[in-house]
Amino acid sequence: MFHVIDPRVFERPLLDELCALATSARLLAKTDAGARALRDLLPTHRAMLYFTQPSTRTFLSFNNACHILGMRTSEIRDPSTSSEVKGESFEDSIRTFSSYVDVIVMRTKESGRAAQAAKLMNGIPRPVPVINAGSGSDQHPTQALLDIYTLQRSFEDFGGIDGKVIGMMGDLKRGRTVRSLCYLMKNYKNVRLVFIAPELFAMEPDVKAYLDQHKIPYTETSRLEDALPTLDAIYVTRMQTEWDTAGESRNIDLSKFSIGAQQLARLKRDAIIMHPLPRGAEIDPTVDQDPRAMYWRQERNGMWMRVAVLIKIFAAENRIAEIAS
Ligand code: NCD
Repeated sequence: MFHVIDPRVFERPLLDELCALATSARLLAKTDAGARALRDLLPTHRAMLYFTQPSTRTFLSFNNACHILGMRTSEIRDPSTSSEVKGESFEDSIRTFSSYVDVIVMRTKESGRAAQAAKLMNGIPRPVPVINAGSGSDQHPTQALLDIYTLQRSFEDFGGIDGKVIGMMGDLKRGRTVRSLCYLMKNYKNVRLVFIAPELFAMEPDVKAYLDQHKIPYTETSRLEDALPTLDAIYVTRMQTEWDTAGESRNIDLSKFSIGAQQLARLKRDAIIMHPLPRGAEIDPTVDQDPRAMYWRQERNGMWMRVAVLIKIFAAENRIAEIAS
C-alpha cells in the first residue's frame, strides 16, 4: 500500500487486514505498555496534514492516529497562510511538503487534487505517499474504510457484512462518503443497497453503473417508512448545502429523510444507525441514547482505522503482530 486515493482498488483481503490491524492497535492502546509500544512504532516518521477544506473528525483522527504511532505532524489548514497566496503552484506546494515529511494527508474542495498530488509524487526522486482525506464531492476513501470497520464490528456476531441490507439516506448526489462506501461493497457477498433520497439528490449514475457492473443490487426510494423495516443498517447523511448554487436543498422536506422516535420504532431491533457526521436535523439527538445508534463509535473507529492505514503504508504490520503476541 502506498497512495490511498481511490476506494475501488481495495480488495477484500486488504480490507480484512486493515480491520484486524485497527482492532489490534485499539486493544494494545488499552494498556500503558501497549500504548508505549505503539508510540515506539514510527517515531522517525513525519506527516503533513494539508486540509484546506473544513474538517473536524478527519483532521483530528489523523492527527491523533499519527501521535498514537509516535509520528510528528505539521499542518496547513488555511491556504492564506501558505505560499499559494504568493502564486506558488499546487504542484510546487505539494513537492515542498514532500521534502519535509514522509506522508501527505490532504483534503481539498476540488475533486481530483489528491490524485494529482499522487501522480506528481510518482515522478520525483523522493516520493511520499498521499492519502486522500476528502476530495470535493467525489471521494473520501478513509471514511469508507472506517465505515467498513464499523459495519464489520457491528455484524461480527451476525455473519459479518455479507448478506446485509444497507440503506443510504440523504444527499447521495453530493455526499462523497456514500459514494466511496458504495465502491467498497463489491467486496462483500449478497449485499443489497437501498438508496433513500429526494429525487433531486439521488445517487449519481457513475456510482450506479459501478454497482451494476459488479452485480450489486440496489433500489431507490423516497419513502423511508417503507424501507426502514427491511434494513440491517441505515447510513444517514446531511444535506451538503455548501454545494448549493441557488439554495436548492432548502426546499427539501428533511423530515422525510430523518430519524427520530417514530422511525426508530420501525427499525429492526438489531439494526444499526450510522452517520459520517457532522449531523444536521436528520438525526434527532434523542436517538443517541438508542443502542442502535452507532455514529459516535463510528467516529472513534475512524481514528483506529487511520492508525491501521498508517501502519500498513509504513509496512509496520509485522511489528504490531510481534507486540501483540
Ligand atoms: C464527511 C465529509 O467531510 O465528507 N465528514 C467526515 O469526514 N466525517 C461528511 C460530511 O461532511 O457530510
